Amino acid sequence: MRKTIDFIKNKTGDFKPESAIVLGSGLGAFCDSLEGIKIPYADIPGFAPSTVKGHKGELLFCEINSKKFVIMQGRFHFYEGHPLSVTTYPVKVFKKLGVDKIVLTNAAGSLRKDLPPGSIMAISDHINFMGSNPLIGENDETLGTRFPDMNNLYSKRLREILFSCAQKLGIDLREGVYCALTGPSYETPAEVKMLALLGGSATGMSTVPEAIVAKYCSMEVLGISLITNYAAGLSDIAPNHKEVIEMGRIAGAKLTELLKETVKLF
Ligand code: HPA
Repeated sequence: MRKTIDFIKNKTGDFKPESAIVLGSGLGAFCDSLEGIKIPYADIPGFAPSTVKGHKGELLFCEINSKKFVIMQGRFHFYEGHPLSVTTYPVKVFKKLGVDKIVLTNAAGSLRKDLPPGSIMAISDHINFMGSNPLIGENDETLGTRFPDMNNLYSKRLREILFSCAQKLGIDLREGVYCALTGPSYETPAEVKMLALLGGSATGMSTVPEAIVAKYCSMEVLGISLITNYAAGLSDIAPNHKEVIEMGRIAGAKLTELLKETVKLF
């Protein structure tokens, strides 16, 4: 950890980010008009290189409305073969840099007919179906407690800001429960039925490990899913990465607009 922090501070000087944003598949356009200090993951000690198409793989330290942010363009996934401790390492690094608020975005499949592709969903809660937990292993007491509470993980305060911005912009914002599975295979129709029966609204392969670690580190968490497709069995089109990226770009513009407005109020 020390090596990572020293490396980053050497590049960023006295820039102290207060908030972090993690951009999911196809959402990289959020950074298009932003200038700042860029650091590729591959250069950062302790960071794994990002291998997924549609993810850029760099950190951007920048100001938005004179507030200081660190933005992850692309994230690490469990299905890439990284242990969850590695996929969530950046969150711990952000905490050590002074971050106390984090926005986690993702592309997700809808588990409900009434949540069509193109929808934006504020995550109200999650179900961890990854079969593992990022906090397994020795606990670092400087970050958080051994048995952290996961109640109110997704900040009500930040969600209220998000909803008020959506209303102002005339964007239809939904709310729901995000289910995380490991991937990389998409779900079967039977699994999709099960997830919906258990109270899920959307399904994806990320976010939950980072959210657990962020809550453990006492950060305020805002989770947002961009619904890119109907999950398997809900439509005639089988889920595929091309569709996810394309819808990410199309509906991503709406999410970018909403996010820009929201983070101004952080
Ligand atoms: N399932 C899992 N992950 C996803 C999906 C999906 O249908 N769409 C985007 N990410």
